[in-house]
Parts: sequence; C-alpha cells; structure tokens
Amino acid sequence: MSIGDVVEAILSSKYLIAFTGAGISAESGIPTFRGENGLWRKYKPEELATPEAFRRNPRLVWEWYKWRMEIVFKAKPNRAHYALAELESLGLLKCVITQNVDGLHWRAGSRCVVELHGSLYRVRCIGCSYKSELREPPKAIPPKCPVCGNLLRPSVVWFGEPLPSSEWTRALNHAYKADTVLVIGTSGVVYPAAYIPFIVKENKGVVIEINISDTPITSIADIVIRERAGKAMEEIIRAIKEGMGFTS
Ligand code: OAD
Repeated sequence: MSIGDVVEAILSSKYLIAFTGAGISAESGIPTFRGENGLWRKYKPEELATPEAFRRNPRLVWEWYKWRMEIVFKAKPNRAHYALAELESLGLLKCVITQNVDGLHWRAGSRCVVELHGSLYRVRCIGCSYKSELREPPKAIPPKCPVCGNLLRPSVVWFGEPLPSSEWTRALNHAYKADTVLVIGTSGVVYPAAYIPFIVKENKGVVIEINISDTPITSIADIVIRERAGKAMEEIIRAIKEGMGFTS
C-alpha cells in the first residue's frame, strides 16, 4: 500500500473526512498521551483527566494542564495540519474531526473542525456559567472564577464525562455522510470518539490509516501508511496538487 493508493482514494471520494489524534501533533513537539513520552511524571492520562482527580487534587491536575498549555501555546502546526487545511481549500476534504485540544487544525487554516474533546484555549467555572478564552496558561493555579470564586477548569472532556453534544452530533453527521476517512495519529482506544472510523467502514466507506504503529483501527483499514503524519501528508498533498496541474 502506497501514497499513490491514498491519493487515488482521496481523488475518487465524494465525502472525505479526517479523524485525528495526538500523533498528528507529535511533530509539532506536543507529547502524545500513550507510548513512551506519554507520561507526565508518573501519571497516566486516565489518572489526571477525570472529575475525581480534579476534586481530589485540583492543583495537581492544573499543574499537568499548565505544562501542556505551555507546550501547546508555543507549538506551531506542522505539515500534516497544513496539508489537511489545503485539502479542504481544494474542495477535497469536508471536515476534520479531532480528539486534540491543541487548536492546531484551526491555527493551520482548517475551517471545518470538530473538537470532540474540547480545547485548551478555553476555561470554564465549575460553579457557575462563567467561561473565558485563554491565550497563555494561568499564572496562579488553580485559577479561580472572577464571578463566583469557585475553581476554573480547562474546557476539555475528561474520562467519564460525555462529549459536548453539539460537537458529537456534528461529528456523527459528517461520519454518516463520509465515504472515505483519513485516520491520522490516533491510538483509537478512547470511545465514543473511536467509533468514527467504524461508522464509515460500516457504511462501506474506505478507511485510510496513517500511523507509525498498529492500532485497533488497523484491522478495518483498507489502506495503511506506516509513516509519520507530517511526511505522509506532505507526500499526499504534493501528489494531489501535481495531479491537479499545480506546480510546486
Ligand atoms: P494517543 O497518545 O493515545 O495515541 C497517539 C497515536 O499516534 C499512537 O497510535 C501513535 O502510534 C501515533 N503517533 C505518534 N507519533 C506519530 C506521528 N509522528 N505520526 C503518526 N502517528 C503518530 O493519542 P489519542 O489517540 O489522540 O482524551 O488519544 C485519545 C484520547 O486519549 C485523547 O484525546 C485524550 C487522551 O486521554 C482525553 O483527554 C479525553
């Protein structure tokens, strides 16, 4: 299976979507959640990204998020994010459904982005309806709500919490229409997000996986590219543009 197969699948698709995870941002210097560099101190994400962990020790959870925010806010989109934005502007990609909270898809210029797990660029109060945007990590942690004095939390989805229903509905709408899905850099183990490629497959769509290792999605993938996302997506977008008569 080669980049040429991916290009052919993309060019013959009628409704292409992308489903992305932490691996697409690895080349931007953002550590993934699982795997060797995934652990912060000795904690697994499942031990920190939960409402219980936040109740027990908000400072610890905020230290982790502050560390991630410091990395994410300085990070830049990479070739894979830009390639997806370009596919959209060429009219070949309908939407990116991402599990990432790093904002790199919209920062790369993608316009249709579904952020299934929320965003590090927003905080909200656990006690009232106060919400705010963030451009830098809070200086004092845990930060407090300026309205009611309760704790602020990152506006992200934690384990055991439902996905924001508007985003999940948007994701499902795209998934049910899709005849092709590019699955990039996700371990495919966190549900319900990981249903997305399975929905496309069940509707007889084409599943393309770009990942440096095997995942549970590999077994349903029609095309598998064992390559870093940046390199693979750069080759794909170059070949597509050449095929469409663009010179690089
Ligand atoms: P993971 O950290 O679980 O998986 C990252 C995936 O990216 C793995 O399959 C790697 O093999 C792959 N990978 C790493 N570097 C890559 C590269 N340069 N190119 C291509 N692939 C690469 O991240 P997610 O699948 O996004 O949720 O994790 C899913 C969810 O679990 C996250 O959204 C987060 C986490 O806990 C919540 O916080 C709710």
